[in-house]
Amino acid sequence: MNTYIKQYTKKELVEDTGRISWTSPSNIALIKYWGKHGKQLPCNPSVSFTLSESKTTMDFSWSIKDGGKDEIVLDFYFENKKNALFEEKIRKFLEDNFELFPFLKYLSLEIESVNSFPHSAGIASSASSMSALALGLCSIENQAFDLNLSDGELLEKATYVARLASGSAARSIFPGIVSWGKSDLEEIKSSDLIASKVEGIADIFKNYHDSIVIVDAGEKAVSSRAGHALMEDHPFREVRFQHANKQLENLITIMKTGDVDKFCEIVETEALELHGLMMNSTPSYTLMRPNTLAVIEKVRKFRSEKGLALCFTLDAGPNVHLLYPDNISREVTEFINSEITEFAENGLVIHDRVGSGPERFL
Ligand code: DP6
Repeated sequence: MNTYIKQYTKKELVEDTGRISWTSPSNIALIKYWGKHGKQLPCNPSVSFTLSESKTTMDFSWSIKDGGKDEIVLDFYFENKKNALFEEKIRKFLEDNFELFPFLKYLSLEIESVNSFPHSAGIASSASSMSALALGLCSIENQAFDLNLSDGELLEKATYVARLASGSAARSIFPGIVSWGKSDLEEIKSSDLIASKVEGIADIFKNYHDSIVIVDAGEKAVSSRAGHALMEDHPFREVRFQHANKQLENLITIMKTGDVDKFCEIVETEALELHGLMMNSTPSYTLMRPNTLAVIEKVRKFRSEKGLALCFTLDAGPNVHLLYPDNISREVTEFINSEITEFAENGLVIHDRVGSGPERFL
């Protein structure tokens, strides 16, 4: 039995109209999720920083629906305009997961979504938007049918639902340092079904900075779905999944001690391994641009010359995330302004940092 499916009927509806609003952040993976199987299950555990500034705000309203029980009634607006493409994607997701939200038989939904970051910034928005969507759906159910879920129960269902919509979104439900996927490590409480906060991490990592250098603001060259599929018969598949587990173990061990130099080493290896896997795939992708490499060179030079723990990580794209502790933020900001901005498209660098997780407003 799926414990995330709540049982209720139309008779138990206590609020037949209502509004709810959630803001949910993006996250940046330190150990990458790359490769999945079954129904959105990861091939290896991943760990991320939940961010603070890069986020999606979603407003939900519901009312009693006219029309057939099996039909989903949804209106979706993105940045104040009706968006048929996103609406179809969400409708498809709800149809595929209808059993998780019995209220869809009785209620119609209107959703308005806005991102804090510019649409053309090349930042993946699926983590922030799909986590906001999951939180909204779980809260509507809880409130309209008076299910009395505790905060913990609601977040647990939300991370489960977010994962089904987009794997990395499962991690955005929680603040700070978050894992998703099964691991034998004692500090890792997540499973392949749900993400969970990693406890016991040294304070220095709790307010780390992530300054995102937008090297190229264009659309992603390879979608996540196609990217994960590249791992299905990748020649290094088994080695990668074993190594990701090892990397995660090493990372959590050093994050408990607060060793920022070792942190740099593991995080950079992991980012380049992700890109190495893409270069070795069939078809092959080189998602780094010349300016990505220029920024990487600059970061390594700064670190060895100044002895300061600035490092980088990469998503499945050309933009560079600069990670550094708060106690060197003055030196790093000067360095970004004088040596890095010239490699960013339109000089765009988004200054973000580790955040406190989603917030409900209404
Ligand atoms: C490289 O979560 O976008 O950012 O589950 O297909 O939606 P789907 O994939 P997605 O993949 C993220 C890949 C990554 C690494 C990571 O965030 O762990």
